[in-house]
Amino acid sequence: MFTARNAGATQVQPTTPVPAHAIRFTTPVMPTPAVFLLIRWVYRLVRLVVLAPLRFPVGVSTLLGSVVTLHYLGWVGLALGGVLAVSGLGLWAWRWPRVFHCLVVLRVLATWRWVWVYRRHWQPVLVIAGLAESYQERHHLPRIRAVTCTDWADRVRVRLVAGTAPADLEHRVSELAHGFGAPSCRVRVRGPRDVVLEFPRRDLLAHPVGALPVPDHPQDVDLAALPVGRCEDGQEWRLRLHGTHVLTVGVTGSGKGSVLWSAIRAMTPAIAHGTVRVWAIDPKRMELSYGRALFARYADSAETAVALLEAAVGEMRQRASRYAGHQRVHTPTTDDPFIVVVLDEVAFLSAYHPDRDIRRRAENAIATLTSQGRSVGVCVLAALQDPRKEVMNLRNLFPDKIALRLDEASQVDMVLGEDARDRGANAHLIDPEVPGVGFVRLEGSPAPVRVRSAYVTDDDIATMVDGYGRSPSSPEEGG
Ligand SMILES: Nc1ncnc2c1ncn2[C@@H]1O[C@H](COP(=O)(O)OP(=O)(O)O)[C@@H](O)[C@H]1O
Ligand SMILES: [Mg+2]
Repeated sequence: MFTARNAGATQVQPTTPVPAHAIRFTTPVMPTPAVFLLIRWVYRLVRLVVLAPLRFPVGVSTLLGSVVTLHYLGWVGLALGGVLAVSGLGLWAWRWPRVFHCLVVLRVLATWRWVWVYRRHWQPVLVIAGLAESYQERHHLPRIRAVTCTDWADRVRVRLVAGTAPADLEHRVSELAHGFGAPSCRVRVRGPRDVVLEFPRRDLLAHPVGALPVPDHPQDVDLAALPVGRCEDGQEWRLRLHGTHVLTVGVTGSGKGSVLWSAIRAMTPAIAHGTVRVWAIDPKRMELSYGRALFARYADSAETAVALLEAAVGEMRQRASRYAGHQRVHTPTTDDPFIVVVLDEVAFLSAYHPDRDIRRRAENAIATLTSQGRSVGVCVLAALQDPRKEVMNLRNLFPDKIALRLDEASQVDMVLGEDARDRGANAHLIDPEVPGVGFVRLEGSPAPVRVRSAYVTDDDIATMVDGYGRSPSSPEEGG
């Protein structure tokens, strides 16, 4: 096989005879002196022996303990010791299962995955993924520093070769995921030349997440971190509404409604208390009408929807002039509640409506709210099917975006920002069988995170309306 090592030694065979007086140049080949090779092998052996107790403490201490027991107590002692150790482990697993799981099961699993999956396939996968050349020596490859396992994923900490960048790995996440038999791969940068590759072993979002519990008191509602679903690592997915605007994008049936309803559900005690007011616009009359009693204002026709948006702009301006010179941040109170304009199918008003005047007024109002509403306590929470510019040229006015299932790969970056797809946000590949699954960028991390919104059923909405909705005798605001 042609490799770089023998490349230097290869000489071109002349097709015509070379005259005796002609001078031929060949690349000098300097074989590594045997003594250096020997030193390198000895160094590797010593390093292996020295590092083994640190890398595999359980394995090495078990081996040492067995040898010592065998030496002093013989085979019977060893068998007895084995029975005692196994019983001790059994007792531990029975008495403190979680601690046992974290300290023993996950560590053994990590060692096994390191040796059997990552170390064994490391070089071939990197070569086939185009991240290394086949002739490269192991020490010229990115090096696996450690493998740890969580309940749902393997984390492979890698030291990059000088001169390479995490982006090289980010551009090959699909190849890496397939190479190591994982459903996806995410790259997290820890520091210079220090990255972690995260390979899920199983999908914690495969099953629907039921509606999350409603907080007991209005004070428990954290408008900067409303629980709305689950992240792929099993943690709660929390969504900020106060101080931002959120756009949820996804094809029809992707679960946009569940994001809107999960956010509303997480705020219900504050809605009942009056520190939060939801102004809802439901052009399809399908999504939000069921919970109408929870909303301070509701609109389902184009004219009333535009009037609602313009009323929100009026309220925002009035607050801005009241705050000017006195107050820089909004604190929700019953006099100055946090206003959430929930807008389903936003393109219906801003792009698809046949009346040009309606489209223009809606677009102006949404642009004004999203560009000036944040600091005075007005938030727009909108849902959209098609993120292309022709349909929604206001999308960049929404600081936070959620990409549910999308039609095309090119739409991922339109929603989540330029490098989102390279970083593994494959929203166009989401299975239609898992509505509510999507990708978001969480605060403080550039890497998109896979999430699933909690599913709020019609029964859940009916319970919310019963517990927290306006009584039929109290009318909506402005109506
Ligand atoms: N988070 C979710 N978990 C499980 N199933 C969901 C979820 N969200 C939606 N669904 C299912 O998918 C269907 C379509 O959801 P919907 O919110 O109406 O989509 P969209 O508003 O994007 O068109 C719902 O009727 C429901 O059966
Ligand atoms: Mg919908």
